[in-house]
Amino acid sequence: MTKKIGIVTGGGDCPGLNAVIRAIVKAGSLYGWECIGIHGGFDGLLTPVQAMPLALKDMDGLLIRGGTILGTANSGLFSAKTGHGELRQVPQKTLDQAKTNFDALGLSALVAIGGDGTLTIAQQMFEMGFPVVGVPKTIDNDLDATQTTFGFDTAVACAVDALDRLHSTAQSHNRVMVLEVMGRYAGWIAAYAGLAGGADVILIPEIKFNYGAIIQKIQAREAEGKHFTIVIVAEGAAPEGQGFVTSSKTENDREARLGGIGHLVAAKIEAQTQKESRCVVLGHLQRGGQPTQWDRQLCTRFGVHAFQMIAKSQFGYMVALKENGMMGPVTLKDAVHKIRRVDPQGELIMTARALGISFGDTPIPLPENAWG
Ligand code: F6P
Repeated sequence: MTKKIGIVTGGGDCPGLNAVIRAIVKAGSLYGWECIGIHGGFDGLLTPVQAMPLALKDMDGLLIRGGTILGTANSGLFSAKTGHGELRQVPQKTLDQAKTNFDALGLSALVAIGGDGTLTIAQQMFEMGFPVVGVPKTIDNDLDATQTTFGFDTAVACAVDALDRLHSTAQSHNRVMVLEVMGRYAGWIAAYAGLAGGADVILIPEIKFNYGAIIQKIQAREAEGKHFTIVIVAEGAAPEGQGFVTSSKTENDREARLGGIGHLVAAKIEAQTQKESRCVVLGHLQRGGQPTQWDRQLCTRFGVHAFQMIAKSQFGYMVALKENGMMGPVTLKDAVHKIRRVDPQGELIMTARALGISFGDTPIPLPENAWG
C-alpha cells in the first residue's frame, strides 16, 4: 500500500480547518506518509484534478490561520443535502470519475473534514469503495455523534464579543438590539452566546416563539427600570406555525440560504413597543479569524486521531470527542444519522430560564405597573 493521504475540506469554512490539516500532515510525516491537498472541496477530484502537495514546511503558521488553504465548496455536483436538508445521492458518474482520479493520484486514504453535508458525501464515497475517514467541523455544533465539533467555540466567542459591544450601545440609547447569529437547525451558538453574553431573549430553532411573549419580556424590563433589551436570534428560529426565513430562492444543488429573521423580529418589536429596535447580522464574521485555544487543541487531537485511524486502515469512520472526553471512532453512518439539537427541557435552557431569560414562548407574568 502506498502511504499517501488525500485531504479535502467541504461545506462552509470555519476556524480550525487549517489546524486539522497541519496535525494530519505533521503526524503523518513522522511515520513516512505523504499528504496531498484536494483543492475546492470534492470537486478537486474531478477532471481536471486540482491537488497540491502538503509538505511539512508548508504547515508553519497554520495552527492559528482561519479559513482553509484548500478552499471549499457547499454546492454543485458534490452536494448531499439540498433545500431544507433533503438527502441527495451524488451522481454515480461523478463518484466514478472521482475514484479514477483518486486511484491515479496513488492515494490510499482520504480525510474528509466537514459537517453533516460533507460527511454524508463521505459516507456515500465510502460505500462505493473510497477509504475515507471523517473529521467533524461546523460552527453550528449540530453533529450528534460527537460531544462537540471544532469551530463552534470560536463562533460563540465571536457572538459573545458582539453581545458585549451591543450592550453598551443599547443601554446608552435605550434601544432594543437584536443580534442574528448562525444556526440552521440547532440553536447552540445563540443559546451559549446568549447565556455568556447576558441576552434577555434567546430565540432558537428548537423553540418556536410568539411575538407577544417577547413584547411582554421587554415591557417587564421597562417596568424594572431597564430601558434596553438584548435579543439574540439564531438564523433558523421561527415564530409558531412558520418555517425558517430564507434570503434567496432555494437552489437544487445546495441548502437554502437562511437570513432575515433578525430584521423581522426587530421590526415587529419596534412596531409593537414604539421602542427603537435595531438588528445586527453577525453572518460570516462568525466563521472567520483565528481559532480559540479550545478549537486549536481540539483540531490537533482530531487530526492526529484521524491519521491514527488511517494508519490502522480503520475506514468508514469519523473521529469524535466522546462523553468521557477521549477521542474515538464512530461510523460515518452514525455520524450523519441524526442532528444534535438543543434540548428545550435540558439544563442549558433551564439555567437560562432560571435567570428570567425569555425564549419567546411562555409569556412571563407582568407586574401591575408594566407601562407606568
Ligand atoms: O452550516 C454552517 C453554516 O454556518 C450555517 O449556520 C449557515 O446557514 C451556513 O453555514 C451558511 O453557509 P453559506 O456561507 O454557504 O451561505
